[in-house]
Amino acid sequence: MEWTRTSLPEAPLEKERLDRLSLAEMAGFVAAMLADGLENPGSPLRKPVLATLGAAGAPSLRTVILRSVDLHARRLGFFTDARSPKVAELGQDPRASVLFYDPRCDLQMRLSGRAEVRVGDEAAWASAAPPSRRAYLVTAPPGTPASGPVSGLPADVDGIIPPLKRLEEGRPNFAFVEFSFAEADIVLFSRAGNRRARIRHEAEAGHAEWLVP
Ligand SMILES: Cc1cc2nc3c(=O)[nH]c(=O)nc-3n(C[C@H](O)[C@H](O)[C@H](O)COP(=O)(O)O)c2cc1C
Repeated sequence: MEWTRTSLPEAPLEKERLDRLSLAEMAGFVAAMLADGLENPGSPLRKPVLATLGAAGAPSLRTVILRSVDLHARRLGFFTDARSPKVAELGQDPRASVLFYDPRCDLQMRLSGRAEVRVGDEAAWASAAPPSRRAYLVTAPPGTPASGPVSGLPADVDGIIPPLKRLEEGRPNFAFVEFSFAEADIVLFSRAGNRRARIRHEAEAGHAEWLVP
């Protein structure tokens, strides 16, 4: 089963159209959702939810911005602060899940796999625009209690985008999260009846099947 890109479904899908859906089309939606999230800054697919396992084994979720997609390798990339709890969580257990939901066509996609964290990643840092880089200048680690509604940024960069040289000082706090997925669970929600499929990749072979939604 290949993730050959198709377009996102036009909502609402009528029963007749839903009954004609193929597993190849469902796999195509995976590719289409990821491409839309990466290429279209206004897309709701730009901001998926990354789930990790918290220190005590409880689920831990947060919104992240989709920064890169390699469909062939089934890899996604996110930026984060190397000092944030999610990085420690992934260090303890790399299993992760990423959830995308598109309200335009009521399509949900849950990707399951593993995430690797690379601190200071050169290529990812080079691809980060100055406003993104500034976030890594926050003085205390994300999640540190604060006295009020603070940005956490040093005074000289608070409210402005500083020159590249100053931004460079945040690089040791910058981490690239590379999420590799082996499974996609995709649900199309419709008044005419929901549809659900699972696509699994083991080694090079892909296997797709319909599931009861
Ligand atoms: C719209 C939006 C986009 C966000 N994008 C990111 C992101 O790309 N990377 C990131 O680490 N945190 C991002 N955050 C903040 C996280 O959701 C989260 O609050 C923060 O990373 C701390 O997570 P942790 O305590 O689970 O490590 C974003 C939050 C929002 C609301």
